[in-house]
Amino acid sequence: MRIFSGIQPTGEKHLGNYIGAIRQYVEAQDRGEPAVFCIVDLHAITVSYDPKELRKRLHDTTAILLAAGLDPERCVLFRQSDVKEHTELSWLLGSVTAHGDLNRMHQFKDKSASQKELVSAGLFFYPVLQAADVLAYRANEVPVGEDQRQHIELMREIARRFNERFGETLVVPEHRIPEVGAKVMDLQEPDRKMSTSVGADSGRVFVLDEEKAIRKKFGSAVTDSGREIRRGEDKAGIANLIGVLSVASGKAEDEIENDFADAGYGDFKKAVADSVVEFLAPVRDAYPEIRADDAELERILATGAERARGYASQTLADVRSAMGIGPP
Ligand code: AMP
Ligand code: TRP
Repeated sequence: MRIFSGIQPTGEKHLGNYIGAIRQYVEAQDRGEPAVFCIVDLHAITVSYDPKELRKRLHDTTAILLAAGLDPERCVLFRQSDVKEHTELSWLLGSVTAHGDLNRMHQFKDKSASQKELVSAGLFFYPVLQAADVLAYRANEVPVGEDQRQHIELMREIARRFNERFGETLVVPEHRIPEVGAKVMDLQEPDRKMSTSVGADSGRVFVLDEEKAIRKKFGSAVTDSGREIRRGEDKAGIANLIGVLSVASGKAEDEIENDFADAGYGDFKKAVADSVVEFLAPVRDAYPEIRADDAELERILATGAERARGYASQTLADVRSAMGIGPP
């Protein structure tokens, strides 16, 4: 089973990233043959960004992944721009991607609406680069959160169209979206997903937040005017907290509803905060030492890129040959 996923170098990752994606990566590394994880700096440049910050943030994200338990001996961890096959393949796949499909991408609609200066062509082409990321490794499985469902659907379509047009070359991947926690909602606006770029900091818990900050954010989480701790309509805030507690504590959501049947919202929020503090503590504790060694981070990324290239270059050779590109 070949497993691949990508994550943006936004530096501080939030609880949604951790629950929806990062904990799945850690679990995947011993199933994957291999499990490949890519920090996607080329995707990050499709919206406005500060070049001076990008490398620093990339190291921040790398260190979070390592602190969360990715082990460079048990998986392939690398920086997207180090493996040039991704960019070449994205161009080649552009010729089997429907413009109309790209036009329908939710993430493009959302992100383009929030750009103040420029909606780049890169942002429009972003899902094709994402398809190249996965297809270059002939991955079978892609662990992601709910918001990536449409992008995975598109890469499946691209792989199918490629195989139809040029012969069986690429593997059609499957998404792996967790049952609970695939869409962690903003604590202040629980009808919207927790996000790095949208909303106030009080609505998102960062993986590296101090205990005090975590308690404060859960303490002021928006709920509803009722008093029942259960999932249901008009209960987006409470339902979100139940999901978060379920993942952090390892208990089923039904069990949580039973356990807290007689509790008030205040006590419930406190229990969620306790559990999340404990859940994230190992990552926060391990982070500073890992982050302090930039040279070691670069060494890990370079080793990962070398290994990644081994897989990607093979696929590229097959794709070029199938498409009639380059010398025979
Ligand atoms: P990004 O930081 O945008 O690269 O996202 C990294 C991973 O986190 C992707 O697999 C997303 O689907 C996942 N993710 C992002 N936001 C959330 C959220 N609010 N809840 C669950 N998963 C999320
Ligand atoms: N677009 C993804 C996100 O915003 C990140 C990503 C890039 C990705 N390439 C990928 C995810 C390949 C899965 C597979 O989160």
